[in-house]
Amino acid sequence: MIDNSHTIHSPVWLASGIRSANRVALAPMTNRSSNADGTLSASERSWLLRRARGGFGIVISCGVYVSLEGQSWPGQLGLTTQAHADSLRPMAAELRAAGSLGIVQLFHGGLRANPDASGVAALAPSANSDDAWSEATEADIARIIAAYRASAALAAAAGFAGVEVHGAHGYLPAQFLSATENARTDQWGGSIENRARLLCEIVRAVRDDHHENFAIGVRLSSEDARQSRGIDIDESVAVAKMMVEAGADFIHLSVWDCDLNSAKHPEIHPITLFRDALPANVPLMVAGKIWTGAEAQRALARGADIVALGRAGILNPDWPERALSEDWAPERGPLTEDEFAEISVGNAFVSYLREKWPQLVK
Ligand SMILES: Cc1cc2nc3c(=O)[nH]c(=O)nc-3n(C[C@H](O)[C@H](O)[C@H](O)COP(=O)(O)O)c2cc1C
Repeated sequence: MIDNSHTIHSPVWLASGIRSANRVALAPMTNRSSNADGTLSASERSWLLRRARGGFGIVISCGVYVSLEGQSWPGQLGLTTQAHADSLRPMAAELRAAGSLGIVQLFHGGLRANPDASGVAALAPSANSDDAWSEATEADIARIIAAYRASAALAAAAGFAGVEVHGAHGYLPAQFLSATENARTDQWGGSIENRARLLCEIVRAVRDDHHENFAIGVRLSSEDARQSRGIDIDESVAVAKMMVEAGADFIHLSVWDCDLNSAKHPEIHPITLFRDALPANVPLMVAGKIWTGAEAQRALARGADIVALGRAGILNPDWPERALSEDWAPERGPLTEDEFAEISVGNAFVSYLREKWPQLVK
């Protein structure tokens, strides 16, 4: 039975007290549309702004590299310099004016970074046998935490409502969390407390600088799926609680399919597990195959507080408004390049979709 005590169209408050006008977020989506120097392009600006104007209460950017060695593809947005921040500032104001909370997703690719794109060697919690990347030293780790902190400060100064630390999908923070990719025996490896230390330190450092009026979210994979390796759902729940203690004011769970129960605990849904473990004032955002209003409402009934839309958000820029009518059927594609252009999805983004999500493109 659907619990309608709150609906996707009702407001929600993050733990910090920041209010979102509704419970619909645009999920973070890489679009490879940024300028070569990592500054925001006109195309990426209009892609995000169009969704804010379409009624998404929260608009999350693509994964934005916090230091060059974390860059994982060409055309990725960066937030390491004043020039990056200056390119983002007008959009931050426009998102705000459209009534949307603009959130920058802070990203570091770790062993999945791309030295050809960044020009810098990759690093990870542990080295690999063929020297494709090196093991992060204590000094590297301190520098990386400082890089997240500096990017968050640039995001705040540029006028964003907050940041989301990308701790999911097998990128650097998730590589540290991983029981299989992190072989360290120092304070950054071993127990889950040690493997979560990097994320905790990042969140603490950002929270230290921004006590008020700045949202800090953490995105986590619930358990192994796609590129996530060595992620256990019971540990992920423990990590989510640690993140809240460190100062996070929302948790964003990436499950890839909101209708599936946990693989490890098939009798229970990940949303329910996380919701039961977290304080009531910390909203749980969830993403994974939500296309219709009914599916979104079902995620809320399971305990989510906010739904994040990926592909449905690409194809339906007015999703929050359109989902008000129960009999509305969302566009699922495939669309032509011209049809994408009409909904502010530019050619670079379409090329990326053609490569990674070919079923969306005609
Ligand atoms: C084109 C595309 C790019 C994505 N890029 C990112 C990203 O930069 N960061 C991230 O955390 N997730 C990324 N994701 C995952 C989405 O945020 C989302 O979790 C996933 O698509 C499942 O939601 P959906 O079924 O509504 O599409 C991406 C997904 C797509 C389709």
